[in-house]
Amino acid sequence: MTDNKGTLIVDNKSFEFDIRKGSVGPDVVDISSLYGDTGMFTYDPGFTSTASCESKITYIDGDAGILNYRGYPIEQLAEHGDFLETCYLLLYGDLPTPAQKADFDYRVTRHTMVHEQMTRFFTGFRRDAHPMAVIVGCVGALSAFYHDSTDITDPMAREIASIRMIAKVPTLAAMAYKYSIGQPFVYPRNDLDYAANFLHMCFAVPCEEFKPNPVLARALDRIFILHADHEQNASTSTVRLAGSSGANPFACIAAGIACLWGPAHGGANEAALQMLQEIGTPDRIPEYVAKAKDKNDPFRLMGFGHRVYKNYDPRAKIMQKTCHEVLSEMGIKDDPLLDVAIELERFALKDEYFIEKKLYPNIDFYSGITLKAMGFPTSMFTALFALARTVGWIAQWKEMIEDPSQRIGRPRQLYTGHAKRDYVSIAQRR
Ligand code: CMC
Repeated sequence: MTDNKGTLIVDNKSFEFDIRKGSVGPDVVDISSLYGDTGMFTYDPGFTSTASCESKITYIDGDAGILNYRGYPIEQLAEHGDFLETCYLLLYGDLPTPAQKADFDYRVTRHTMVHEQMTRFFTGFRRDAHPMAVIVGCVGALSAFYHDSTDITDPMAREIASIRMIAKVPTLAAMAYKYSIGQPFVYPRNDLDYAANFLHMCFAVPCEEFKPNPVLARALDRIFILHADHEQNASTSTVRLAGSSGANPFACIAAGIACLWGPAHGGANEAALQMLQEIGTPDRIPEYVAKAKDKNDPFRLMGFGHRVYKNYDPRAKIMQKTCHEVLSEMGIKDDPLLDVAIELERFALKDEYFIEKKLYPNIDFYSGITLKAMGFPTSMFTALFALARTVGWIAQWKEMIEDPSQRIGRPRQLYTGHAKRDYVSIAQRR
């Protein structure tokens, strides 16, 4: 929607650009003709002021602490819905009717097994490999299994690839965990719901019956909902950029998983728990907060701060509640890590540095304590984030492929290297 024009003065000359209105949120100046008109690029490292695409999927108001999927507040979805319903919503734009939901659940459930040949990939990894390393490799490897059927110009092929990914990434994540602890892989069980099946694949062993705890399954399902999408974050932008060349969708999702792994992004849940363990007791909090504020010390409070949220991350609020529910279900009355987390949050939120920079706990602050209480090792935390974010990546990838204005992503640069210089033979170099 183009509503009005804006004037930019560049080098004392005026240029007109369309101002495009979003349904909610900031307007954007459409500068796609800027280079043609002015011969200049814009410079925005880290894309802090750049909208890279038009999207109808997720809306964030970072100042107000709002996160909506397709218009629905995250709080309502987490409270009343389930993860596969959120998947349907993200992929197709509306909440499903009962018949659509039943059909979608059926389709995802029938794709949960992976090709038996995939087990060979796992045995090629060292047992101590990080699960994220294994998952990046194995999800990328899915492209070798479905390359014939993945014609991305065919809507049906895109649909099947999407369902396959939502269904198979949990199976691969659970296999990565089982491999790391030397236990046999556990096949998916289609009579269980998505989260319960994941608990089963992670914690069942063939020699005894395993009944997933419904309270933990519900909590895990809610954690998946909270992580399902987050508009144009680093990993989603990676998926879009990889996909913009027409690459195989499984390979694009593998690229997203690789990006998510970093500690500034999804890897922060693992780093946050390690930090809480390192702090150990509430009396050491002032020392760590001082380190976080020290410009000469690279240490940051992990699970704190966000590029977009300059208010409490709405996901962190729900995560904190879920954390208490899980600890109570597991009979953990006093968790020293939770004590440190609560005190650290209280301490930081009244500290001038954190107030001034608007640094609040993000989703990763309480997720580690929750997942640990459920029995997941620290190394699996980011893998669970990847599992849940898969649907967001796919929904964004599909939206991009189906956008008629889509072109290959190709940012430009401010070049500050040498101007042209002539080659000097090695014998003449000093
Ligand atoms: N501890 C201490 N200082 C911080 C922190 C922190 N966690 N986060 C930001 N700051 C300071 C930073 O030093 C900078 O100060 P100054 O303006 O004096 O140079 C200022 O706040 C702005 O930080 P920035 O790095 O320019 O902000 P950014 O938007 O580029 O980075 C962030 C956002 C999330 C990478 C950063 O806040 C961070 O590293 N947090 C810790 C890692 C973390 O928890 N990541 C999970 C993000 S939520 C899950 C997800 O979506 O992936």
